[in-house]
Amino acid sequence: TKGNYRHFMLKEIFEQPITIGQTLATFMDEFGKPANGFEDIDFSKYKRLFIVACGTAYYAGAVAKYWFEQVAGIPVEIDIASEFRYRQPILDKDCLFVAISQSGETADTLAALRYAKAHNVGTLALVNVTTSTMAREADIFLPINAGPEIGVASTKAFTSQLAALACFALAMSEHTSFKDKETIMRFTKALTELPDTVSETLRLDAQIEKLCLGLSSAKSVFYLGRDMNFPIALEAALKLKEISYIHAEGYAAGELKHGPIALIEPGTPVIVLAAQDPLFDKTVSNLREVSARGAKVYLITDKAGAKIASEMAEEVIILPECESFVSPLIVTIAIQLMAYHTAVHLGTDVDQPRNLAKSVTVE
Ligand code: F6R
Repeated sequence: TKGNYRHFMLKEIFEQPITIGQTLATFMDEFGKPANGFEDIDFSKYKRLFIVACGTAYYAGAVAKYWFEQVAGIPVEIDIASEFRYRQPILDKDCLFVAISQSGETADTLAALRYAKAHNVGTLALVNVTTSTMAREADIFLPINAGPEIGVASTKAFTSQLAALACFALAMSEHTSFKDKETIMRFTKALTELPDTVSETLRLDAQIEKLCLGLSSAKSVFYLGRDMNFPIALEAALKLKEISYIHAEGYAAGELKHGPIALIEPGTPVIVLAAQDPLFDKTVSNLREVSARGAKVYLITDKAGAKIASEMAEEVIILPECESFVSPLIVTIAIQLMAYHTAVHLGTDVDQPRNLAKSVTVE
């Protein structure tokens, strides 16, 4: 049931401190080390990962690419399942194929998994529904344990996919020794603290709800981010368009001047996802560019970022302090609430958006 919540989507957004905790408990041992469930993976065998998924699950994979490369030093290719399955990708023995899917039934992702199996590549499925076809057919099955997701727009499954992938990347880093132990320990600690950090982020709900009144009249909304916030910008745009039906696009902030800036006119909402990190100044210069063209800038940042860039923004959402390693999960909470409240202001059917199905079992 929805309990006291108006929609399943809102309930599932607010469940995330618990569901992320469940995912972490699945993969972390009693010492808080991400070690459980990865025993069957022969890490020494794999030199490359191939991540394949659709929609929101694809964006989880796109964030994970940064994690695997930055903490485990392992190259990652990522593809949309409907492209992968038809373009004859080159797979070899030292490549591990990773499918990500909430339902475990998505037709294109399943076909991609079968393609990889047919090419004798090791397969792993990161799935929520434990009784699903992908869970059964992959060589290795990692359950994310987010519990049943009812809202058509994926929320808690996405953050659990991210939490599981973060554990996976850290487990892999043990074997590659690519990153120093101290950094890995810091990242691991930040992961274990995530349920609390997410709870803290959920307290921004009322502020975000109010701010969405301004968004609900927009014709078009842009999300900008760099590094791991780039795939989160894509996920933010997807979430907004699927439930509010407002046209939205996510862009890598650095791509702006290569075309999309032509679309910015006075009043266009631009949502900038940027915590204070080594790339912050670059994103701020993109913020300045859109602001100079009259864009209405909403900045999602942390305290340090707000200090630097608040003046250029119409509204600032200040997220709790956290390690940049886990920050995509925290930014996600804010963009989920944004999409939700904008849709509610517009009166759409949030849990059952038009033309969409929870599980896409036909291609
Ligand atoms: C968006 C959404 C979809 C799914 C996609 C893949 O909110 O829910 O984009 O993420 O259809 O579904 P699964 O994860 O079941 O393979």
